[in-house]
This record gives sequence, C-alpha cells and structure tokens, in this order.
Amino acid sequence: MIETEDEAPEPTVDDLPGVGPATAEKLREAGFNELLAIAVMTPSALADAAELGEAVSAKIISGAKKLANIGGFVSGSSLLERRRQVLKLTSGTTSIDELLGGGFETQSICEVYGEFGSGKTQVGHQLAVNCLLPKEQGGLDGEVFYIDTEDTFRPERIAQMARAVGIEPDVALERIHVARAYNSSHQMLLVDEIHRMAKNIDVKMIIVDSLIAHFRAEFLGRGMLADRQQKLNRHLKELKKLADVNNALVLVTNQVQANPASMWGDPNKPVGGHIVGHASTFRLYLRKSKGGSRIARLVDSPNLPEGEAKFFVTSEGLTD
Ligand code: GTP
Ligand code: MG
Repeated sequence: MIETEDEAPEPTVDDLPGVGPATAEKLREAGFNELLAIAVMTPSALADAAELGEAVSAKIISGAKKLANIGGFVSGSSLLERRRQVLKLTSGTTSIDELLGGGFETQSICEVYGEFGSGKTQVGHQLAVNCLLPKEQGGLDGEVFYIDTEDTFRPERIAQMARAVGIEPDVALERIHVARAYNSSHQMLLVDEIHRMAKNIDVKMIIVDSLIAHFRAEFLGRGMLADRQQKLNRHLKELKKLADVNNALVLVTNQVQANPASMWGDPNKPVGGHIVGHASTFRLYLRKSKGGSRIARLVDSPNLPEGEAKFFVTSEGLTD
C-alpha cells in the first residue's frame, strides 16, 4: 500500500469549528460528506444547497479550507519514492515485456484496444492469471478484480492458463473476483465496491473489459456526448485512484472505430476520444497478423519508444 492508507482518519464535517450536529446533518443531507467538496464552494452556493445562512456558510467554507486535504503539491523526492515502488507484471511473452520496458506497470492505467477478435480479452485473462504469480516469476503476488461488461469472462480459460503457469486452477479462480456489469452506472458502482473490498484484500490488478461498451450504447448522439465523457472521466479517475492507493495495475480494453478522416496508415482509432487517451499511461494496439500471429503496438508512451511486439494466442495462453 502507498501513503494515504492507515494514516490518521480524514477530518469530517463534524470536525468543522462552529458546526454543531444539526448543521453537520444538513451538510450531509445536501451531499457534502467531504470537506474538499465544501472548500471549493462559494458562500451563496453552499447556503442555497444546504439551506444555511450565507454568513454561516462563509465560516464553514473557510474552516473546510483549513482542514481539507487539498492535495496537489508533493515533493519531487516523494514522487521518486512512489516510482520506486512500481512493480512490473509479465505478459508471459518476452516480446511484449520488452516492448513495455519490463512488463505492465502498477500505478498506471493500461488501455488495450483493437478490433473484435484481436485478443484483448485473452490478454486480460492472461494478466489476471500472471498477477497471482510470485514476484520472482514476474507476478504481483496479489488478487484480481475483473469487471466484465460483455459477458466474456471464462473461468475455464483461466483454469487452462493457470495450469500452464503452474498454479492450481481452483486457487487461481479463488483469487480472481469477477463481477458482471449490467450498465454504465453499475460499472461505476462496482469500482466503489472494489474501493471497499480492497481494505481487506491485497488487490494488485483491476480489469475492465470493456471500458466503453456500455457508455457507448447508453449515451447516443451528439447531445449526450458531454455527459458521457464526463461520466467516463470520473470512472477513469476512480480507477486511477485504485491503481495509486493499492500500487496496482488497471487494465482497460477498448474497441476501435474506423476513422474516415484518416488518409493513410491504419484507419482504426480507439473509441472514447481524448478522455481515455489522457487517462491511460500505456496504450497497446492489438491486431491480427500473418500465420495466426498477433501484433501489439505501443502507442503514445511517455517514456518508452514506440514499437511492436509479435505474439501468439495458444491454448496455454500468450506465447512468443
Ligand atoms: P472482442 O471482445 O470481440 O472485441 O474481441 P477481443 O479482442 O476481446 O478478442 P479475444 O481476446 O476474445 O480473442 C479471441 C481470439 O483468441 C479467438 O479468435 C482465438 O483466435 C483466440 N483464442 C481464444 N481462446 C483460445 C484458446 O483457448 N486457444 C487458442 N488457441 N486460441 C484462443
Ligand atoms: Mg473481448
């Protein structure tokens, strides 16, 4: 675990100077559970929302500003310390591991995108299994949460891949927690649930397969685009928090859509636009290639050269 966990409890609205139980209750009823949410309000807006006087609201806000953990700036050395804790998860293939500078990094979101059948779900299954391996074997020695939006999680496939890396299938399936998400709101609620469960479980990987499918189906048309992107943004922020707090890897899969504006090169681009691109640290583009092989291309990495890795999907899982 990194920072934040196990520190002194966060102050709440009850700790605000001059706020009695009745006012605290009003604030909570209006949805102000966190001090940060209060700290960023204006007195008149808070007065409106929580049915308080404006002078009282102003006092509450200034109290919240002092108590709230505004966050923001940390020293370069503490950032370096965090980076030192980054772990790398093997894909089981030397080609993809090399492409990623040693494997899939914790504290990051990795987006795997490609056409149907390109192998996104297979990569998800393989990494879920590998995550259970001890660190000496390239694993993260922790448990996995798998949010399945398309009903394509297959325990049989996990069992098969587990056997191939020497893990008892039952043990593997016990440590991979799966939830089917029925719509985008449910998908977001499941992330909250992981936040709760991670207090007692050493979660090292969270998979969302697929990230966008529900959002795309539910928010149709131009008029709903802003709303969709806003929700997606919030969803990704919560996922990133899980990655940071637990020193875990988040893997999301994404579909591609043809980009009619593309005159040359590969006409496919990932769905979801800039939001997903900005939120993910690594983006891997999968495509099928000659002789049943597959190619993973590293796109837009902050500190690694672009490049490609060739791999195969076999009954044992991903191989070189
Ligand atoms: P969508 O979710 O439809 O967008 O596709 P995807 O990118 O998730 O594709 P997925 O990972 O499901 O890849 C499916 C392909 O993996 C199949 O067409 C097979 O080629 C391969 N595959 C899946 N399971 C097995 C298996 O048990 N053995 C072998 N040899 N190949 C498999
Ligand atoms: Mg799939």
